[in-house]
Amino acid sequence: MPTLGSVFKKKKKDKEATRLKESGVNPDTIVEDSPVTPSTERSLSQSLGSAPSTATTANSHGGLSTITSATSQTPTSPIATGGQAEKDHPMTTPVNESAGHSRSDSQTLQKAENAVRATKGKYTLQDFNFQRTLGTGSFGRVHLVQSKHNLRFYAVKVLKKAQVVKMKQVEHTNDERRMLQRVKHPFLITLWGTFQDAKNLYMVMDFIEGGELFSLLRKSQRFPNPVAKFYAAEVALALDYLHSMNIIYRDLKPENLLLDRHGHLKITDFGFAKEVPDITWTLCGTPDYLAPEVVASKGYNKSVDWWSLGILIFEMLCGYTPFWDGGSPMKIYENILRGRVKYPAYIHPDAMNLLQQLITPDLTKRLGNLYHGSRSVLEHPWFAEVNWERLLSKQIEPPYVPPVRGGIGDASLFDKYPEETEEYGKDGPDQYGHFFTDF
Ligand SMILES: Nc1ncnc2c1ncn2[C@@H]1O[C@H](COP(=O)(O)OP(=O)(O)O)[C@@H](O)[C@H]1O
Ligand SMILES: [Mg+2]
Repeated sequence: MPTLGSVFKKKKKDKEATRLKESGVNPDTIVEDSPVTPSTERSLSQSLGSAPSTATTANSHGGLSTITSATSQTPTSPIATGGQAEKDHPMTTPVNESAGHSRSDSQTLQKAENAVRATKGKYTLQDFNFQRTLGTGSFGRVHLVQSKHNLRFYAVKVLKKAQVVKMKQVEHTNDERRMLQRVKHPFLITLWGTFQDAKNLYMVMDFIEGGELFSLLRKSQRFPNPVAKFYAAEVALALDYLHSMNIIYRDLKPENLLLDRHGHLKITDFGFAKEVPDITWTLCGTPDYLAPEVVASKGYNKSVDWWSLGILIFEMLCGYTPFWDGGSPMKIYENILRGRVKYPAYIHPDAMNLLQQLITPDLTKRLGNLYHGSRSVLEHPWFAEVNWERLLSKQIEPPYVPPVRGGIGDASLFDKYPEETEEYGKDGPDQYGHFFTDF
């Protein structure tokens, strides 16, 4: 039975996609000044394999970049003071990094499995200087902010309580906070804490500087096979991790995938993430990315994320989604239920084979939903050259390094948005606070 409060998010800039399709762009051409060029393809297919971990290869700017270790971008709590980085937890006593205390992400992962970060009520509006908007979504907006304590930059998602209640998103919003608090993974966004005032909810995250994968994809039109493979592989590891914790993500799309300053992915937006050990019914997601069992209001499980991974890979390889149709959601749903996918000739046969097994309505055939779970995805021939351990520890050089200066609050890779006119932190009656006692 569908849950009340069904909600669908729009895919960003459908208009742009319309334009692309109408312009009759030859999908076989790779744009001349595309940020992701065919030369990237060569260096990447080498680096996805077993090149030495300190390999130096030409990046897409024609420059050189060296990836040496997984811990080059250690996140730091917004209230830690100068120079000292807290490794795991914003409330622990700061650890001096020089005390021989370093861990790889994978080691941290094991420890974090059962750990829940203390994120409640640790910060207030007064801890931050709010700057420009980085992105807007269906229920709120995300700001670049600077901590007044350590002067580092963070991203704060602001949700209007009244809007969340009106859109019947109370449960999803509490789940977003709860799921984010539980996870710790190299390719998932870190939530440092949450707080609220009379009108708004606030979530403090790391600021991921390289912009949305969406922007890079639209600029590039489509990605070469190995580039799509690199991003797909990082996403697959993150999904594998989430599913191992019984969390379904449910909103995979390039708008929710951010590039860090080195070019690795971070999945943001846990607005639809939920702990689901078996089956659920809620209708939510983004039309282009919905699995047929969701569209048909059947009960569904984690395998909807593997379907979405198929749609994501298709979009990265082709520049458009397989069921896209003039921007009308109803048309898209019809196409999803009809299930016919036209694979362009330029798709690599291994990629096509994987897509056919992900974008299938038959749950007894969908990879990720079979006996070996995620393993059947990771072990698919398209991923054959991926060294998963090295990928997890960020030792594989990303195909594209965003042109951003790290650590100075450079938001130039994000689109501009009209700013919020209502001031944050104003006193007044708190009509809905009781719905959000976790914040
Ligand atoms: N941690 C972050 N760092 C930088 N930008 C972010 C971060 N989190 C979100 N954004 C930007 O804000 C946009 C909206 O945030 P998101 O959480 O996806 O909201 P919604 O649930 O409304 O889609 C994202 O698409 C992205 O551009
Ligand atoms: Mg989003």
